[in-house]
Amino acid sequence: MEPEMQSPIQLEISRRNLLISSAATLAVSGAATGQAAAQTEGETVQHMSKLTLTVNGESRDLDVDNRTTLLDALREHLHLTGTKKGCDHGQCGACTVMVDGRRVNSCLTLAVMHEGDQVTTIEGLGKPGALHPMQAAFVKHDGFQCGYCTPGQICSSVALLEEIKANIPSHVTGDLTVQAVVTPTEIRERMSGNICRCGAYSNIVDAIVEAAGTKA
Ligand code: FES
Ligand code: FES
Repeated sequence: MEPEMQSPIQLEISRRNLLISSAATLAVSGAATGQAAAQTEGETVQHMSKLTLTVNGESRDLDVDNRTTLLDALREHLHLTGTKKGCDHGQCGACTVMVDGRRVNSCLTLAVMHEGDQVTTIEGLGKPGALHPMQAAFVKHDGFQCGYCTPGQICSSVALLEEIKANIPSHVTGDLTVQAVVTPTEIRERMSGNICRCGAYSNIVDAIVEAAGTKA
């Protein structure tokens, strides 16, 4: 069957209908976009969390975006800038702190995951004039040059000695049936997550050996 021909008037009416329906579609999608934006704004509020951490023995209340790392919570919210941001993705160890006695890369963990936890930073280990033995050993053995990695190195070293005391084996621990001991090999392996671009490694090992009270 032959397709029915449309008159110029019918074509004009169809074209007008098309324009009207397109405008209506745009209006609806505009309204939807506005609604989405409003929802996004609403969600931003819901993305905030209140939490309480015990930092260096002191209870600290925080109101943070859920995406805030523990590192940023310490540095930006609590102004504890001793903990350093090196790579910000778990490769350098500059951000190492202790959480409930265990060392963690604070750039890799969210603050909201630590409600009620005990966090120890370099500021909580010792103060000028009353240094932690590990801090004193680092000073004595020149375990740093620029010092940027040092807070992380020291927090890691303190936790390392506790790990060995608790007989937690490392990759280089030979005999798992006897108590683990502090040796330079164990120290190097267990400190391998803490990078020092100044290359103060041998002095760092000497400092840890001294703080552990063992012989190199
Ligand atoms: S800043 Fe966290 S590991 Fe580098
Ligand atoms: S002392 Fe400079 S990076 Fe370690």
